[in-house]
Amino acid sequence: MKTAFIAMILKEKINMLYQSYYRLKVNAFASTKLHDAISKVPILRALISYEGNKIHEIMSGFVYSQILHLLITLDIFQFLKKEGRSLDEVSEYLQVANERSLLLLRGGCALNLICHKRNKYWLTRMGAQIVGIPGLMDMIQHNQILYRDLIDPVKLLLRGNETELSHFWPYVRKEASKKQISTKVSAEYSRLMQTSQRLVAEQTLQAYSFRAAKRILDIGGGTGAFLRAVKNKYPQIDATVFDLPNVIKVAKSNQYKIDGLANLTLKPGDFLVDDLPMNQDVICLVRVLYDHEDSTIEILLKRIYKALPKQGVLLITEPMSGGTKAMRSSDCYFSFYTLAMTTGKVRSFEEHKAILRKSGFSNITKHVVSAPFITQVITAKK
Ligand SMILES: C[S@@+](CC[C@H](N)C(=O)[O-])C[C@H]1O[C@@H](n2cnc3c(N)ncnc32)[C@H](O)[C@@H]1O
Repeated sequence: MKTAFIAMILKEKINMLYQSYYRLKVNAFASTKLHDAISKVPILRALISYEGNKIHEIMSGFVYSQILHLLITLDIFQFLKKEGRSLDEVSEYLQVANERSLLLLRGGCALNLICHKRNKYWLTRMGAQIVGIPGLMDMIQHNQILYRDLIDPVKLLLRGNETELSHFWPYVRKEASKKQISTKVSAEYSRLMQTSQRLVAEQTLQAYSFRAAKRILDIGGGTGAFLRAVKNKYPQIDATVFDLPNVIKVAKSNQYKIDGLANLTLKPGDFLVDDLPMNQDVICLVRVLYDHEDSTIEILLKRIYKALPKQGVLLITEPMSGGTKAMRSSDCYFSFYTLAMTTGKVRSFEEHKAILRKSGFSNITKHVVSAPFITQVITAKK
């Protein structure tokens, strides 16, 4: 009792000290007088310039992403892929004056996507990866939709509004019955998901072993790209994809084009109302939960819990918030992306844990991944 009381007093004192330090820091760094004084001390001047540059980087981010967009849309990456090109060659290719292409090429150089050597422009390692990673250019291009939704970020954040992204992912829209989503629209988002799946699957398979699993079900599994990657590594697994009827239709039409799809069972249905396949050793949710609000995922998780056998595993893989240690990739990019979807939410491990516990799961474990900006992996047991 006494120690609890002392701890409480101590905590209060530390809080008060922090408040005083905070006021001092803000007043000092917000003051132009102090700023001028600091600029005269070499080490502090370096700190101020470093942080000034960081502020400038944050402000310029949207211009950087539009330069990237230009390099892809105008096919500059592809043009430089084969060999280095001179300024004249690029201008000829773009059919613009040298002055304009130089602007773009220098922007690309500043972003380290292109370099200028021997009087020619070449792809850097990063530039080459943009061309080489399957689906990356499509993914970058589709950000133009998000870009338009972010034109009025105040309106988006404070009031939420009609967004273009919610039409790109129409299953998030409440007024439309999922049955009314056209196959064309389903095919468009499914293609983007399919081509961008490689890195997510790679990270997930590095983080979690499916060795012990005989049957696995991928709910919201799209056209089966994740399960194909799983089956490449574990060919003996009996794998089922569950997704909306139109997506399964797209998956079936792919069946003859993609090797290995024939080995997957394709099951159409709505995960909120239709029966989920039972007796699976592992049920996967790959980039599914962050599309939806808490009330929706609670229904889904409870249904999954019911469908799993005792000791059955639920695996969640998707970008996650850093929580108290916020991360740019998830707490800036994916959080605002899912906000623009209107129903989505990027959750931290702790937030996932709370909802999983509420749905009955235990043994909730976070697995280590090497690229958390792509995905993070959690498993939970029934
Ligand atoms: C963001 S995509 C992820 C697809 C795939 N898991 C991947 O990572 O490539 C979400 C998937 O959930 C599916 N989905 C959304 N609502 C659904 C529902 N109510 N029932 C079944 N599937 C649904 C969508 O059709 C879509 O394929």
